[in-house]
Parts: sequence; C-alpha cells; structure tokens
Amino acid sequence: MRVDVVEHPLVAARLTVLRDRGTQPPVFRAALRELSTMLIYEAARELPAVQHTVATPLTPAVGSRLATVPIVVPVLRAGLGMLEAALGLLPEARTGFVGLARDERTFQPHAYLESLPANLADYPVLLLDPMLATGGSAAHCLNLLAERGAKGMVLVCVLAAPEGVAALDAGDFDVRIVTACVDERLDDDAFIVPGLGDAGDRQFGAV
Ligand code: PRP
Repeated sequence: MRVDVVEHPLVAARLTVLRDRGTQPPVFRAALRELSTMLIYEAARELPAVQHTVATPLTPAVGSRLATVPIVVPVLRAGLGMLEAALGLLPEARTGFVGLARDERTFQPHAYLESLPANLADYPVLLLDPMLATGGSAAHCLNLLAERGAKGMVLVCVLAAPEGVAALDAGDFDVRIVTACVDERLDDDAFIVPGLGDAGDRQFGAV
C-alpha cells in the first residue's frame, strides 16, 4: 500500500493553522478547504486521462481530459469540510456519503448513513476524511466501496497515525493514501498526537 505524504510549504502552513488550538472554526474550515485542494490535486495526479484535439485560435492542439468522472465520498461529519475542495477540482464528480461516528469507548465506527452508487466498478473513487486514527472508520468505508466493485481507491486525509496506516496495510485494501503528514502516534483515547484535536468538532462545534 502506497502512502504519499505531500511535502510542500503551503501544505505545511495550512496544517499548522489546523493544529493550532487557537484557530477558530471559520478559519479552521477555510484552512481545511485550502489544504484539501492541495491534497486532492495530488490524489488526482494518477487519474486516467484521454487525449483529444482542440482548436486554438491558431491551430489544432492536443488536449486532455479525465477519462472517467470520479466519485468522491466524504465521511461525515469531518469529511464534509473537504467536499467543496474536491468538487472545485472535479466539478463533474458524483458524490456518495458515508456517515460514521466513532464510539468513544471501543473506538469502533458506528454507521448511521450510507448513500453510495450501487456499482463503483468503473469509477475512480476518492474517499475524503481528515483523520486516519485507528483506521477502523477508513476500513469500514473501504469495505463498503470494495463491495460495490471499487478498485484503486484513494484515501485523502489531512493526518494519519502510524497505527491507522498499519491497520489498512494489514487489511490488504486496494488503496493509496494521500496525506499531509503521518503523525507520531495515538494516545490512550485513540486521538492522533500531536494531531489537531477532533476535526469534526473544530469545524462544526461539539455535539
Ligand atoms: C473521526 C474522523 C474519522 C475517524 C477516525 O470522526 O473524522 O472519521 O474519527 O478515527 P478511526 O481511524 O479511529 O476510525 P468521528 O467518529 O469523531 O466523527 P465526526 O467526523 O462526526 O467528528
């Protein structure tokens, strides 16, 4: 399983804003959107393209467009903050949704929403979730996507914990991870350290 860490000063600067406990929700959401644009740009690098000819004002030129419209899947709640960036770069993408809440005691994901196309066999799929902690939520989603025939999936996350990366690797998923940083570890509450806290709460407030 490939893990691509996007090393870029603009990525690092936005990530620093997200990590800062003093960053308020409006600024947090803006920084997440901007950072997501950069991560999704990298995630899209290997999408299949087809060539076609366009006429410039001077002469025909070889052009290119995506071969297939991708499907983007934000994981609610926190992944919603990455959706606008995804649709900005991939305006024709279709959107599926998975809603998960991690149990605070067992750390297992509890699914409360699943709205996905029945057949994903012919589409590139980008899964959007800012945090890969234990990997339980991502594994749940990747299983849902694989059951629908998805192959060569890309998980776009702001932060990954080594434990989450190892869990997905052990699960033998057909997935590539694109992230801004692989952090140090998980703490006893399965929060990423140093991390940025709870990405859902920091965008939308605690519920
Ligand atoms: C967070 C995060 C991931 C999940 C990661 O969501 O956005 O979905 O936890 O943890 P894991 O890798 O250990 O499964 P949370 O369940 O807190 O819900 P929220 O997005 O509604 O805040």
